[in-house]
Amino acid sequence: MTKVRVKLGKGYDIHVGTGTLEGLGKALIELNLTDKALVIVNTTVDKFYGEKVCRSLARAGFNVACEVIPDGEEYKTLPSAARLFDAAAEARLDRRSPVVALGGGVTGDLAGFVAATYMRGLPFIQVPTTLLAQVDSSIGGKVAVNHAKGKNLIGAFYQPTLVWSDLLTLKTLPYRELLTGMAENIKHAVIADRDLFGFIAAKLPSILAAEEAPLQELVTRSCQVKTNVVEQDETEQGMRAILNFGHTFGHAVENLTGYKRYRHGEAVALGMAAASRMACQLGILSAGDEAEIIALVARAGLPVGGTGLNPTELYSALAYDKKVIAGEINFVLPLSIGKAEVFSGIKQEDVLQAIRTIC
Ligand SMILES: NC(=O)c1ccc[n+]([C@@H]2O[C@H](COP(=O)([O-])OP(=O)(O)OC[C@H]3O[C@@H](n4cnc5c(N)ncnc54)[C@H](O)[C@@H]3O)[C@@H](O)[C@H]2O)c1
Repeated sequence: MTKVRVKLGKGYDIHVGTGTLEGLGKALIELNLTDKALVIVNTTVDKFYGEKVCRSLARAGFNVACEVIPDGEEYKTLPSAARLFDAAAEARLDRRSPVVALGGGVTGDLAGFVAATYMRGLPFIQVPTTLLAQVDSSIGGKVAVNHAKGKNLIGAFYQPTLVWSDLLTLKTLPYRELLTGMAENIKHAVIADRDLFGFIAAKLPSILAAEEAPLQELVTRSCQVKTNVVEQDETEQGMRAILNFGHTFGHAVENLTGYKRYRHGEAVALGMAAASRMACQLGILSAGDEAEIIALVARAGLPVGGTGLNPTELYSALAYDKKVIAGEINFVLPLSIGKAEVFSGIKQEDVLQAIRTIC
């Protein structure tokens, strides 16, 4: 088991281990939490791990209520939250009752939103079960539900009390979801950690085979990158924006394909390819580093081109990104593997040239 400390909110630990779900109840008692708990899980994850987690909490003395939600991004909504507020009220949760999110980023974002707002904030425990959630969405305190007008429009910054990652849960994760998580790991490596990039390149086959030792190291190091960034800029006033590497183009691809054709990480992979090419064209990134980034993304089974999308339409879709401020599109571009910065004022023709390479 490894631990990464996050100095945000009251401060919390990210625990990374294997076969640790049974120990969750005891860990919550050690955090002084009592004596009722609400576990939020979706139908898919419940079948694998719901009973194990609820049993662990009950053994530690918690009176456990478990609320099972349908599986899917389309349920990360206010009506789902309303149902969970009812469950919290029925369970008579009080200020020391933990709300436990057991699942991927969808469950974590929704449960976190409920924990942040019910009684103006209850202790929130993240038990992430996708690679993406373990290295990205469970850390840093962004919680939200979607609105018809856009993703994650209604939300807050609300830090968890504990993040409890059990790598064994990744054994049941569909392979495509594992690859989606790999995109965020490669992103972390490119923006802030050249050694991590080398580690991923060297260990990729064993990581993709979900072997314990390389996964332990990958998840721990990747969590450390995200932690370092969010600690410096909790509410995204500046530095945190570098976590959007690949996301400006990625969101445009998702938007144009109706969020159906590509998983989020696949769209981010295309975005990282386009941003790296643009950085190289502008003379910011060396051709060698550009080639290495794109080669690693492709080796991880993620797309780097061939979308068949119309470049002009994709360019127009960029303007819808919620990170566009006063009509100015910001791009996170790598300066080298391990270092990235936010750029604006890039000419339309330069952007289009990069876009064409993924179309
Ligand atoms: N809060 C943040 O900072 C942040 C960052 C990135 C993404 N997000 C959000 O995260 C969400 C995406 O998260 P995700 O990729 O984890 O998707 P997800 O939560 O939909 O999980 C993907 C699929 O895997 C299944 N699953 C989860 N764990 C499993 C396991 N161990 N075994 C078998 N199946 C399992 C789920 O039921 C689902 O079908 C989006 O809503 C996105 O907006 C939030």
